[in-house]
Amino acid sequence: MCGIVGYVGRSVDGGIAGHSALDVVLEGLRRLEYRGYDSAGVAVVSKGAIESRKKSGKLSNLIAELEAHPLPETVTGIGHTRWATHGGPTDRNAHPHLADGGKLAVIHNGIIENFAELKLELLDKGVTFLSETDTEVAAALLADIYRNKLAGDTADGRLTRAMELACQRLEGAFTLLAVHADQPDVVVAARRNSPLVVGLGEGENFLGSDVSGFIDYTRRAVELGQDQIVTITADTVEITDFFGNPAAGKEYHVDWDPASAEKGGFSSFMEKEIHDQPDAVAQTLMGRSDINGRLTLDELRIDPELLKQVNKIIVLACGTAAYAGMVAKYAIENWCRIPTEVELAHEFRYRDPILDANTLVVSISQSGETMDTLMAVRYAREQGAKTISICNTNGSTIPRESDAVLYTHAGPEIAVASTKAFLAQITAAYLLGLYLAQLRGNIFSGQIKDVLADLNKIPAKIQKILDNAEPLRELARSMANEKSVLFLGRHVGYPVALEGALKLKEIAYIHAEGFAAGELKHGPIALIDDGQPVFVVVPSPRGRDSLHAKVVSNIQEVRARGARTLVIAEEGDEAVKAYAEYVFYVPETPTLLMPLLNTVPLQIFAAELAAAKGYDVDQPRNLAKSVTVE
Ligand code: F6R
Repeated sequence: MCGIVGYVGRSVDGGIAGHSALDVVLEGLRRLEYRGYDSAGVAVVSKGAIESRKKSGKLSNLIAELEAHPLPETVTGIGHTRWATHGGPTDRNAHPHLADGGKLAVIHNGIIENFAELKLELLDKGVTFLSETDTEVAAALLADIYRNKLAGDTADGRLTRAMELACQRLEGAFTLLAVHADQPDVVVAARRNSPLVVGLGEGENFLGSDVSGFIDYTRRAVELGQDQIVTITADTVEITDFFGNPAAGKEYHVDWDPASAEKGGFSSFMEKEIHDQPDAVAQTLMGRSDINGRLTLDELRIDPELLKQVNKIIVLACGTAAYAGMVAKYAIENWCRIPTEVELAHEFRYRDPILDANTLVVSISQSGETMDTLMAVRYAREQGAKTISICNTNGSTIPRESDAVLYTHAGPEIAVASTKAFLAQITAAYLLGLYLAQLRGNIFSGQIKDVLADLNKIPAKIQKILDNAEPLRELARSMANEKSVLFLGRHVGYPVALEGALKLKEIAYIHAEGFAAGELKHGPIALIDDGQPVFVVVPSPRGRDSLHAKVVSNIQEVRARGARTLVIAEEGDEAVKAYAEYVFYVPETPTLLMPLLNTVPLQIFAAELAAAKGYDVDQPRNLAKSVTVE
């Protein structure tokens, strides 16, 4: 939620030696726009003054504003793209917020929980506010400290000291970036419970909500710890805690390449990311087993003896990642025989869950920044549980705060609706399940080898689905005026049905619901009316006894009541044809691995239908990619 960029380059004789701050900041905002697109704004420091532009709506509105009212070329700048929390998505509430008579500019990601109390205090002092945001309160607090409390200080280091004192008073979650006209070649930033990374350049330094904010300029990044402040100039990066004590960040190499964050000829990032899926699965599998078919998850770095003691697994995640967790439950329980619960992270810590040192908590998060998941992981650690994070974003908070991490290697996911991250999460969860089974001797090594061999065949099978999707696309286009679509699945097909419904809701704004097929007769079947489209995810006829037959019966039940049945089935399953208006076949694969295939047609269907309705597939209304508020 909210994307943040900061930049300081070197100046020579008052001119720019390297990049223009505005160019860097706008490029960073373009890449970070997936984090929020309610408004965008920039501020640059020029000749002892701050100049800023901001505009509600997408980044393109800000760019138009900048064309009409250009900003000067400078070496220092900050930029923000907003997902509104406090105050609607208006020009006035857009960041940056100015204070100290227009000499200070602040941008913010997160929620300042004690903003109302601070605002009263500042109003008492005669401060006036132009917006309804908590950010403007933080800016005013910073200005008050800078101007009054530190009145005797020289300009050098004063903004950093003011930020320390301000952060000591702020509660909640925040990444704050500030520039002051008195220090034209400095950006000061602070973080608590909200993401911020530093990019290290040659004679220039960067700040971003994540590395995509500066990926075009450097691959050297520094992850900051909790409650830290960083002050960047063109040549220095200084990190302290909120009390001015020196602190160190952890440097790492960014292996995402800028081209992977471009559309690459596709009509949308979502289409591109759907097509990236063979690679996302292959990359996540790569290097994690040896030629004898043994899992080698050395990166896990949790004592194998401790993992052998685990007697309960709790998977924590939100949204699509939680559906990946549901798939993981089927696989882990099947292979490891460890009771596994899946819980929405935001529900978990409010119900006094039972966990101890023998509980393994597996969090799943693409961004590694989802606040609900982070809080749940923290809670689990406090209760003594071991925590493993399945995550796609190197250097993000959840892996850093977990005992161990298993990265998915899906590459940057830009479209707000998750696709390739979902498949990579499922793949990583399978690897974890197999690894635990291997450690604990639950299944024969030959069996692990067979599952790995099946997993290695998945990328080619996904490719086959992608190559043969045109009839499905036609179907989607023909359904652009539907008002409601239902999705049914059983066993691992159930989370797939939920995911199919979520994709359609979030990008096509169509009412969609996923059900466990067996639950239908307990209520939802009342929804079935003449012509109601129902997608049914049919398990393999070669799989578990009766599973296939039960789902076929469910198809008949809804069809008998007038539903239009759209079926995703395995190649060779001729039986379903008799009951379906439409069948899309996916290649054969063992039942437990089927979600890696039968999710793909549902993603394609949603993306095509949303595009047919003329919607922005990548940036659906009201949403943001990473949900960094609770
Ligand atoms: C849906 C979607 C969301 C995310 C959820 C968790 O398409 O993208 O439901 O899956 O917000 O996000 P991460 O995985 O970043 O924790």
